[in-house]
Amino acid sequence: MGRLMFRVVVMVSGNGSNLQALIDNVHANDKVDAQIVLVVCSKDGAMALERAAAAGIPTEVVALADPSERTDRDRRLNEVIGRVEPDLVVMAGWMSIVTGTFLDAFPDRVINLHPSLLPAFPGMHAIQEALEWGVRLTGVTVHIAEEAVDGGPPILQEPVPILAGDTLEALAERVHGVEHRLLSHCVTLYAQGRITRDPAQPRRMIIDEGGS
Ligand code: GRF
Repeated sequence: MGRLMFRVVVMVSGNGSNLQALIDNVHANDKVDAQIVLVVCSKDGAMALERAAAAGIPTEVVALADPSERTDRDRRLNEVIGRVEPDLVVMAGWMSIVTGTFLDAFPDRVINLHPSLLPAFPGMHAIQEALEWGVRLTGVTVHIAEEAVDGGPPILQEPVPILAGDTLEALAERVHGVEHRLLSHCVTLYAQGRITRDPAQPRRMIIDEGGS
């Protein structure tokens, strides 16, 4: 007998506005057969934990006290996340590098959100760097998480134009708006079984946007 609901774990570190988008657009949406079964946070006291609690979603804090403990921390992540048997693990503003110890436990099931059109502007300051470079277009990428930071195959990408006179705040607000929509759409497509890896070309993901 199959399980009724597609099970999602969301990994967060801070504000959790993308978690909130997933709660509103996926978890609490009757039209999508998916539920967030656990929120894992890298920082105690983060706003994201309050958002999860308000939605009645269980939470766990898995912190990294010292960078030398990364492998042990990743084993703890495996235990905590493996226990809830996720179909998909979503890094939505998770700000800590994970190793193969974690990623290999969930092959092709961990996705990450990044505020640029990868491979441009990987790393922590993608929105600011795009503005400083003077590019006309930046955007949002949802991609498969791999050990190389911001390096896995892209799943969905959407451009965000940079306007004359843009400030960091104005651009960040538009990028975040696209993030909220694109990540929700991506998780919905996964829940509907519409995302697969191209066997002939493993860096390409096949997206079946279907008719709906
Ligand atoms: C997002 O811009 C995400 O792309 C980046 O961190 C930010 C998290 O924002 N990795 P929030 O915590 O979801 O509000």
